[in-house]
Amino acid sequence: SSMHTELEKLLDTTTGPEKEVSRKDFEGFTNLFHRFLQVKGPSVEWTKIQRPPEDSIQPYDKIAAKGLPDNVADSLNKLVVVKLNGGLGTSMGCKGPKSLISVRNENTFLDLTVQQIEHLNKTYNTDVPLVLMNSFNTDEDTKKILQKYTHHRVKIHTFNQSRYPRINKESLLPVSTNLSMTGQSAEGWYPPGHGDIYASFYNSGLLDQLIAQGKQYIFVSNIDNLGATVDLNIMHHLVSQPNGKRCEFIMEVTDKTRADVKGGTLIQYEGKLRLLEIAQVPKAHVDEFKSVSKFKIFNTNNLWISLAAIKRLQEQKAMDLEIIVNPKTLDGGQNVIQLETAVGAAIKCFDNALGINVPRSRFLPVKTTSDLLLVMSNLYSLEAGSLTMSPKREFPTTPHVKLGSSFTKVQEYLTRFESIPDMLELDHLTVSGDVTLGKNVSLKGTVIIIANHGDRIDIPAGSMLENKIVSGNLRI
Ligand code: UTP
Repeated sequence: SSMHTELEKLLDTTTGPEKEVSRKDFEGFTNLFHRFLQVKGPSVEWTKIQRPPEDSIQPYDKIAAKGLPDNVADSLNKLVVVKLNGGLGTSMGCKGPKSLISVRNENTFLDLTVQQIEHLNKTYNTDVPLVLMNSFNTDEDTKKILQKYTHHRVKIHTFNQSRYPRINKESLLPVSTNLSMTGQSAEGWYPPGHGDIYASFYNSGLLDQLIAQGKQYIFVSNIDNLGATVDLNIMHHLVSQPNGKRCEFIMEVTDKTRADVKGGTLIQYEGKLRLLEIAQVPKAHVDEFKSVSKFKIFNTNNLWISLAAIKRLQEQKAMDLEIIVNPKTLDGGQNVIQLETAVGAAIKCFDNALGINVPRSRFLPVKTTSDLLLVMSNLYSLEAGSLTMSPKREFPTTPHVKLGSSFTKVQEYLTRFESIPDMLELDHLTVSGDVTLGKNVSLKGTVIIIANHGDRIDIPAGSMLENKIVSGNLRI
């Protein structure tokens, strides 16, 4: 109740239409906060976890083998592509929306997305719209950029996700004293994770608008996943489930490797498919969770969801997504928590949910400049906004790239590569310290370049490094 008083005080710091949005946000937040207070103990009982039944996670090849019908355009016209665009590029040292970072030939994540959908609409003579879920952090910058797509063949809609108050870890009271987004109080607010999509899509009115236009399904994915293109085989599988077994939710999962031990996995729980995230796993079972043998697959966050089902579940208030408590330390040193939810956690709420085990190529996230180096290189080729692995690469796997802290920020990373090296035959690259690479460098096998503190290494233009360690003045 002291929380209520604090929220009322905050609401009084604004007026007009902004107040209405804030009231909706506070309703959502109050609900989440109450659930947070009620939760006792872990959200899953470890002994009740079961392996998903055989047919609940289908191999992609099996689905693709059925082939596509002639009327695939009819299904496409019922589809909406949604990109999760609430995140900033801070982990790569950028200030604005992550989707506006250039990833390939001057194209941003957003450019590539628009190109992909436009290509689809031209090829099939369809009208697949793009919906961006923005946050208060990304909305303004994104909208400015959207003007450049007005003459593209893709309708673009946006809606905003909620804005919730960060709360002090000890007192559990909001840290902000007013609704302003400037100065100190900017730190008092956060977008509550992509699980917020269901409520904010519904509250925005856009969900109803799209249903009224005859749209039936959304394909949702992270905007930083360059592998998340509209897959016609999965779409067809979704729309062609027989009556009585109407599938309302498909989660694309892929085989886990030792590099992705942290991703959420699908389990069978109380008779339904459920997403299990590492945050929900009791400490004693974390190693088991990470093992590649027991939990073989992980969530790519590429999801196909029925619009009518979202509407129904929102109206029934039936989405009780597990709360992820995300601890943060503010600039001033104050310890806060932010309560979040994940979009995939809703799988347990939908009827006849399915997993589809897709090829790794559908999971190509760019989280770091190491990921960026791979997608900028000749390992991939770009066609109609989609990246595909170059046929000239002899191994099906991508090289392992580890760039040190002097490469973390995109700006600095770009200045250190005069051009992107030839990486077709690379297996492993580690670069650390004050290192630059000249034009047309070629990297093969395992290459390690380490400049010790105070040293600097400039790899000359045209160099070919094959199975080499370059360190200080020592060259092996
Ligand atoms: P994340 O920041 O959650 O990526 O953003 P992650 O840490 O790698 O976690 P997962 O496993 O991919 O979820 C994933 C996508 O969700 C959007 C981001 O913009 C990004 O596209 N996102 C995240 C939102 O739209 N809103 C949020 O509140 C959080």
